[in-house]
Amino acid sequence: MKRKIILDIDPGHDDAVALLIAAASPELELVGITTVAGNQTLEKTTLNARRVATVAGIKVPIYAGLARPLVRDQVIAPNIHGESGLDGPDLPAPEVPVEKEHAVDFIIRTLDESDGDITLVPTGPLTNIAAVFIRRPDLARRVKEIVLMGGAYGLGNVTPAAEFNIYADPEAAHVVFTAGAPITMVGLDLTHQATATPDVLERLRGLRTRVGDLVAELLTFFGSTYHKVYGMEAPPVHDPCTVAKLIDPDVFTTRPAYVAVDTKSDLNYGRTVCDFYGLTGHAPNAQVAMKLDRDRFWDIVLTALARYR
Ligand code: BDR
Ligand code: CA
Repeated sequence: MKRKIILDIDPGHDDAVALLIAAASPELELVGITTVAGNQTLEKTTLNARRVATVAGIKVPIYAGLARPLVRDQVIAPNIHGESGLDGPDLPAPEVPVEKEHAVDFIIRTLDESDGDITLVPTGPLTNIAAVFIRRPDLARRVKEIVLMGGAYGLGNVTPAAEFNIYADPEAAHVVFTAGAPITMVGLDLTHQATATPDVLERLRGLRTRVGDLVAELLTFFGSTYHKVYGMEAPPVHDPCTVAKLIDPDVFTTRPAYVAVDTKSDLNYGRTVCDFYGLTGHAPNAQVAMKLDRDRFWDIVLTALARYR
């Protein structure tokens, strides 16, 4: 049976790759794409989702979600993703529409109509998902699982303590981590193992397809900003790690932990504090991603992308 997923994204170079592999994987049924403000404004992330879907011929409905975080001032990431949110390749004008229904309404309706078999895959700030649980706390029991990219038990990437998706809406992340749904947290500790090294770019170009070239161009731009900002030799391709886990559960290991989001302090605002030892006395509320099988990961990504002809 295919696993039904809703991808909640803020494309974003790595979000675009997550979308491409999710739409091309027979193990998954992508029932909807929802967008959120994050790497860029909602207007831009929604346009980018439509552009990527147009290039790849993805015919899955796209719903626009929330345009700003719940409480904090908006932060975006043009230093990493450029002014468009998807700088690098030339992308066509979108031919696929945005649905009229709001993303939050779509997620609520889809969960209501489901048999409890929907997995949510957020790879941007958790604003839309938090809004779902604020409106309908009961739906936390209807979600099969939330496999999210965000947080870190170690270092952050936007502050020394906080990862971008959580920092961009810590209050929303708090709502999601306390909602009671089963969560797999795919944080920087894991995604920094998913580097797009030159051999990966070569494999992508070797596909000799529009989509292979597109992903190579996206990751080349992404690599240039990662080098400029962090001095990294190869960029970590965060968001597709979530989708890869749903395609192949053995692609990374996890460890249970109680994860709390710091919404109160200054230096640690947006930090995901992970209690692996039960020191806080709380039962685990998440499976935290630990060790990536890197070869397996890139094989999953390349196999999925090779389906675009
Ligand atoms: C996350 O932040 C964004 O820049 C990426 O798309 C990814 O979701 C990594 O911290
Ligand atoms: Ca993202």
